[in-house]
Amino acid sequence: MDKTILITGGAGFIGSHVVRQFIYFYPDYLVVNVDKLTYAGNLENLRDVEHRPNYRFERVDIVDPVAVRKLFEKYKVDGVVHLAAESHVDRSISSPMEFIYTNIIGTVNLLNACKEAWKDTLDDKLFYHISTDEVYGTAEGDSFFTESTAYDPRSPYSASKASSDHLVRAYHNTFKLPVVISNCSNNYGPNQFPEKLIPLVIHNIKNMREIPVYGKGENIRDWLYVIDHARAIDQIFHMGVIGETYNIGGCNEWKNIDVVKLLCTILDEKLDRKPGTSAKLITYVKDRAGHDLRYAIDASKLQNELGWETSVDFEKGLKRTVDWYLDNEAWVNNITSGEYEKYYERQYKNR
Ligand code: NAD
Ligand code: TYD
Repeated sequence: MDKTILITGGAGFIGSHVVRQFIYFYPDYLVVNVDKLTYAGNLENLRDVEHRPNYRFERVDIVDPVAVRKLFEKYKVDGVVHLAAESHVDRSISSPMEFIYTNIIGTVNLLNACKEAWKDTLDDKLFYHISTDEVYGTAEGDSFFTESTAYDPRSPYSASKASSDHLVRAYHNTFKLPVVISNCSNNYGPNQFPEKLIPLVIHNIKNMREIPVYGKGENIRDWLYVIDHARAIDQIFHMGVIGETYNIGGCNEWKNIDVVKLLCTILDEKLDRKPGTSAKLITYVKDRAGHDLRYAIDASKLQNELGWETSVDFEKGLKRTVDWYLDNEAWVNNITSGEYEKYYERQYKNR
């Protein structure tokens, strides 16, 4: 194998697509998926590639420095693509500490391990940190987030991600660690845990459950198909300039209520329901605390410098996503039983 690449959080939503991208396109890389398997980590996501000769799985909690050190003793690591994180804003409001441990301390443990492992040479090494547009706060008026927009994180999730971004940059500046960072907008697509808006709405419509829309449904998100994010990560990993940051986004802003209505229309059609049936499930509920109004990415640096573009338009991507959830009932049933129902009850009962 040419290189050994650790992909952290590879059993999660985006991570599983990144693992697949690297396994298929770089058969000469050994791809090591490093994941603790929290409620959000699911090895089912990688069933189709787990027997590939260039794939390994290591169950490791990145918060544990000894376990991380052992991992770096076992593999001669050339690169890290770091996605492991607690990723859901609502959970960060109800229990922030997990976010501090994994997103901040976990990231520093990985940085320390790279610094130690690469002390003799930094040639051809890279620590690639995957972050979010939420670090920039809420986009005022018609403005867009660029790579130089000042950080203004406003939820425990975004504050923990911002903190990890700063630490990654600090290790680059102080210890010359070769790093690159990308900040991406909201992703959607197959394998997303149904606590996030799009899969939750699909799941509820299918089961004729109420669709909880926070506040007035006017908050705006910039949606990107997950495979386009995985492609961007591949390009940045191979072509990105060390020390740089790249924003990734779909140039695709939607109010939440419009996304929900579009999903209602798509599902009425796919489930042979009378038009308007699913929309009756829309229920406005108490708003999320500190709910950011608008996220909007300017991805022109990535487009102009590395030639990346989106490949899937939103309606097509949503239809594909709906098809995937309808065709993969067993995947959904496995994760929406037990703990998920308890979470759902806690999260939505008094809204
Ligand atoms: P996810 O919640 O689906 O998956 C996270 C993965 O990390 C899971 O497999 C989980 O088991 C693993 N993990 C969590 N804690 C860990 C620990 N302590 N040690 C090892 N593994 C651990 O998340 P996602 O939506 O796929 O997001 C992946 C990354 O992309 C995150 O860093 C997130 O901040 C970032 N991101 C997500 C989005 C989005 O829309 N989902 C957008 C931009 C950036
Ligand atoms: P989410 O998928 O949690 O992503 P993020 O908070 O990281 O943007 O939510 C997307 C948007 O949808 C956000 O504005 C909150 C809203 N939302 C609802 O209206 N109802 C819901 O049940 C959920 C989970 C989210």
